Amino acid sequence: MDPQSSAAATVVPRETVTLIDNSTDKRVELPLLDGTLGPKVIDIRKLYSLTGLFTYDPGYTSTGSCESKITFIDGDEGILIHRGYPIEDLAEHSDFMEVCYLLLYGELPTAEQKEKFEHDITMHTMLHEQLTYLFRGFRRDAHPMAIMCGVVGALSAFYHDSTDITDPHQRMVASYRLIAKMPTIAAMAYKFSLGQPFIYPRNDLKYAENFLYMIFAVPCEEYTVSPVLARAMDRIFILHADHEQNASTSTVRLAGSSGANPFACIAAGIASLWGPAHGGANEAVLNMLQEIGSKDRISEYIKRAKDRDDPFRLMGFGHRVYKNYDPRAAVMQKVCHEVLDDPSVRDEPLLELAMELERIALEDDYFIKKKLYPNVDFYSGITLRAMGFPTSMFTVLFALARTVGWIAQWKEMIEDSSQKIGRPRQIYTGYAKRPYVPLHQRG
Ligand code: CMC
Repeated sequence: MDPQSSAAATVVPRETVTLIDNSTDKRVELPLLDGTLGPKVIDIRKLYSLTGLFTYDPGYTSTGSCESKITFIDGDEGILIHRGYPIEDLAEHSDFMEVCYLLLYGELPTAEQKEKFEHDITMHTMLHEQLTYLFRGFRRDAHPMAIMCGVVGALSAFYHDSTDITDPHQRMVASYRLIAKMPTIAAMAYKFSLGQPFIYPRNDLKYAENFLYMIFAVPCEEYTVSPVLARAMDRIFILHADHEQNASTSTVRLAGSSGANPFACIAAGIASLWGPAHGGANEAVLNMLQEIGSKDRISEYIKRAKDRDDPFRLMGFGHRVYKNYDPRAAVMQKVCHEVLDDPSVRDEPLLELAMELERIALEDDYFIKKKLYPNVDFYSGITLRAMGFPTSMFTVLFALARTVGWIAQWKEMIEDSSQKIGRPRQIYTGYAKRPYVPLHQRG
């Protein structure tokens, strides 16, 4: 299949899978579909109409929910590519704005396209001033992810002129607004928790630099963003920009499949990302490292992670898809060292602890056999902490960076003519039909 073509996945000629219902001897032939990369896929769309049977796949470990041209992951080989470009190359040679363009439009921009895109995003960085009152309605100790869910959802109440999803121009404006305003919202959530004044965006700064400025500047002093930290932030954004059909992206697609507006869909994605098994993992890694505290306690925690009766897991280890290594983790480890070498950054004793924990786990049979490797979150928490972010902001940064991936996936879904409202089925194991019992006869 031509990777650049807009054609749908192709049916593999003369290849089918036959499903036999042994109780009735009924047979159905199901077609196989082929994409550009990755395993073939059994097309079960007609399964229910042909057999009266559903499939059962909680956690969707064997289920493809959509067709996509944006991101490909080969978990066994440790490969992650966006629109064909390996994540390592993008992290090394590209920048976040370029990656945003790539994810949204499918190609790297020309110099002119890039300049226009950056300019257009920059022109949307400010928030409607009325939204500051919404921030002030939260408790000062609110988790910034709670504020993000609320404020991003509320954008649909402020930007009515970009909520008509049937209009391509409005879809584009909403996309730009979300990418542009997320750093402003994230920084405001942080400033609110500190009790510091909100810092307005500066359109003479680049995307990551402007974000760091809004986070760390105060109105009473000059603040210059360290170029090392700005580049590190930019690369952290690139590493988190998209990751195929993960929980939050699938949530965005599912919410969007009903025709909900993009601001509401992204708010749903933020809610899904918040959990510790997904975007909350880097916060959990840092909490875990703090709890372990010193190298001599590592073996105790490794033992706990291996104990089936103990719910403790080594945070930052393992991945649903990567069963070799997480290519983002290698880049993240490099970024981590660069940040910690920057003179503006304080010493981080947890780095040494993390490296020792990684070394011990990677030599342990349990982790080897189960193919559990460090994921991107293992080093991102330490890096972000060294940059000066509190742990509660880690998932917020993930949400900020992932917004472009969510939007690209949402846009792809809306523009896909075969798209239907998402509606999984279930195995019902509750009561069969039974007569209603009047209140006086119960108990
Ligand atoms: N520590 C100890 N054991 C583990 C771990 C871990 N971190 N991860 C998986 N296992 C074991 C698990 O107990 C299971 O053992 P068994 O076969 O004996 O029941 C086996 O490995 C397979 O694990 P699983 O839970 O079936 O795998 P999964 O694909 O459902 O879960 C995961 C993937 C990421 C949720 C899980 O590895 C985990 O909880 N890791 C820690 C949290 C974490 O770091 N999450 C960040 C993911 S990367 C960021 C992102 O993309 O969102």
